[in-house]
Amino acid sequence: MLSLAFICLSCFLNLVGSISKHPSVLVVSFDAFRYDFLNKSATPNLYALSQIGVRADYIRNIFPTKTFPNHFSIGTGVYAEDHGVLANHVFYNNRSHGYSYDLFHYNDDVVPIWTLNEKAGQGRHSGSMMWPGGEFAYQGVTPTHAVRYDQSFDWNKRVDVAISWFLNETAPANLVMLYFEEPDFIGHRHGVDDPLFRDEIRHCDRTAKYLQDQLEAHNLHDKVNVFLLSDHGMVSVAQDRIIDLNKFANFSRCDVVGTSPVMQISALASLDPFTKRCKFSWNVKETGNSKIKSANGENLHTKTVSLHLRVPNELNLQYFS
Ligand SMILES: *[C@@H]1O[C@H](CO)[C@@H](O)[C@H](O)[C@H]1NC(C)=O
Ligand SMILES: *[C@@H]1O[C@H](CO)[C@@H](O)[C@H](O)[C@H]1NC(C)=O
Ligand SMILES: *[C@@H]1O[C@H](CO)[C@@H](O)[C@H](O)[C@H]1NC(C)=O
Ligand SMILES: *[C@@H]1O[C@H](CO)[C@@H](O)[C@H](O)[C@H]1NC(C)=O
Ligand SMILES: [Zn+2]
Repeated sequence: MLSLAFICLSCFLNLVGSISKHPSVLVVSFDAFRYDFLNKSATPNLYALSQIGVRADYIRNIFPTKTFPNHFSIGTGVYAEDHGVLANHVFYNNRSHGYSYDLFHYNDDVVPIWTLNEKAGQGRHSGSMMWPGGEFAYQGVTPTHAVRYDQSFDWNKRVDVAISWFLNETAPANLVMLYFEEPDFIGHRHGVDDPLFRDEIRHCDRTAKYLQDQLEAHNLHDKVNVFLLSDHGMVSVAQDRIIDLNKFANFSRCDVVGTSPVMQISALASLDPFTKRCKFSWNVKETGNSKIKSANGENLHTKTVSLHLRVPNELNLQYFS
């Protein structure tokens, strides 16, 4: 899936007031804001910004198409196999890891841009407003300004705080990462064709307008380079594309982490390592023709789906058919 990306306002920073003497960048992410959710009627403010700035047709997300892996790729410039954030939740070392320091520290040689900026010194300061992985130390360095993800934190207030970091008298930021969790949440709950989803797109659009207005009010609009982008897109899933794995396997002795596009299955951690068994009862009769449909319901192709099970022996899984 593709994502939206454009840059508005490209100017270098002048020595004005207390703001940073370094070129300043604000990166804003609206989670799952697909590239084509932006148009003149649905998002007039984002559209207007795209007209006065530079707009890319799309950016390409990495696989897996998940929030944490993609935000960390945006921050580090490398794929998930290098930065190690393989999913929003992963199972390793005998347990499930959700959002945590550990999840973002698979490879200590991979350092996100907000940390590199901070480490460059000479008055450079970074800020992370709820950016996934943003508040952690990397190689012992935390951003000067950071707020951890908090869904209840008002969106306009996030903008206000992010802008205050550029204006901070003792430690003005020259790089701020700003995160909004929509339209992803609403999209997962209601699909992209629901009126609630359209309302949320408008909410994102109003927030972009509020951001632009506040940059202007603080005389930052021609000094801060603003990137508006997203981590991945989203489409509604047709009923006949859902695979109910419970029809094929008995998961009662398994730990299952994640759902799509990648699911991790391991033998139950609490079981004795010598006797643990994750039992799969694959019923080949359950497989058959599955119509793969595009978002608008048109049949793209019809093919036989068969499930292939490849499980390393070390996992000590037992399966039978
Ligand atoms: C504008 O985008 C919305 C989704 O955000 C879509 O429903 C609508 O059809 C689009 N309108 C046009 C004219 O492309
Ligand atoms: C400026 O940033 C420093 C470091 O984070 C913080 O302690 C201070 O409260 C900030 N000043 C204002 C006025 O917010
Ligand atoms: C699944 O496995 C558990 C433990 O092996 C067993 O007790 C249960 O009956 C199984 N469920 C089904 C539907 O086969
Ligand atoms: C794995 O975690 C479980 C608890 O979830 C614990 O009972 C078990 O002892 C652990 N096994 C190992 C090898 O650490
Ligand atoms: Zn996301």
